[in-house]
Amino acid sequence: MFEKFYPTELAVSSYDIDYERMYSKGMRGLIYDIDNTLVMHGADANEEAVSLFTRLTKMGYSVCFISNNKEPRVRRFYDGLATGGVCTDKMHYLFKADKPSRKNYRKAMEIMGTDETNTCFIGDQLFTDVYGANRTGIKSILVKPIDKHEEIQIVLKRKLEKPLLMAYHHRNRKKNDKKSIVLIGFMGSGKSTIGRALEKKLKCVYLDTDAFIEAKEGMSISEMFAVKGEKSFREAETEVLRGLCKDTKRMVISTGGGMPLRSENRVLLKKLGIVVYLKTSPENVIKRLEGDTTRPLLQRPDKEEAVTNMMRQREPAYKESSDFTVYTDGKTVDEIVKEIELMCL
Ligand code: S3P
Repeated sequence: MFEKFYPTELAVSSYDIDYERMYSKGMRGLIYDIDNTLVMHGADANEEAVSLFTRLTKMGYSVCFISNNKEPRVRRFYDGLATGGVCTDKMHYLFKADKPSRKNYRKAMEIMGTDETNTCFIGDQLFTDVYGANRTGIKSILVKPIDKHEEIQIVLKRKLEKPLLMAYHHRNRKKNDKKSIVLIGFMGSGKSTIGRALEKKLKCVYLDTDAFIEAKEGMSISEMFAVKGEKSFREAETEVLRGLCKDTKRMVISTGGGMPLRSENRVLLKKLGIVVYLKTSPENVIKRLEGDTTRPLLQRPDKEEAVTNMMRQREPAYKESSDFTVYTDGKTVDEIVKEIELMCL
């Protein structure tokens, strides 16, 4: 009954969506609401917006802003992006769009040269943005409104949205409440810390594949690399995954940074549960791992270069293995856990 108001996905912010993953799956057109989705109500395009739309249009996306506001407001936002250097060939806008009417969602696709299969709507409101996208038959991502203090008519709408969102979360929780949560990502991306925080939250067993292997082998990973070699460690990693796949209870599992490199492991990871890719910038990884002596692969003089190269090489494997990405830069443990909760719990 409420399905028509349900978004395809949720995200904490328009700036935190894994657009690269969407593009690789064939998405080509992005339709955006502006106010409270990209900037505060009535605000001009800021640096963050310029940088996002430069990145998206360079990647190959066409974008279209559709707003129920009048032209001057929409134009001001659009001009801000254009002045900032975003390519206007791939950026369009429609004003007084009358959302949730289908008309302008369709017009946006026509202008962008996309269709229902490769277009996604991103907005912060259920009854206009998401409902309109569902009526048009396109995917939608509901983001959290940027500004918590809204005008009175929006405050009332939020009150009406609340029970629907609760029902939506309830449905998702029921769908996922038996599934394990598996954390993957580069060394130093916080997998163990987030794993332990999720363990507390979900009150279920937590397992760190590295710690498990160390206990089983009776030596540290560094020793294992030195004595038995990396190949033997990688074998042990696959063994752990095979074993975990036989277990049916819900767990939180954090994995070593190289786990998704083997194709067999990528299949096993997916079988295990919901796989979350914690993505951290090379700069932050380098900072966090300064002085670390426990990662044998990084005990080298050109550590910074090695981290950057390894991250680039591993990115496709991380993406292939995971269901979604959480960007960790600048976020607290609590924020990251809340984001994972929002996406799948
Ligand atoms: C490795 C990551 C390490 C550990 C081993 C190899 C890798 O785990 O499994 O040193 O290849 O990235 P963390 O990601 O927990 O540091």
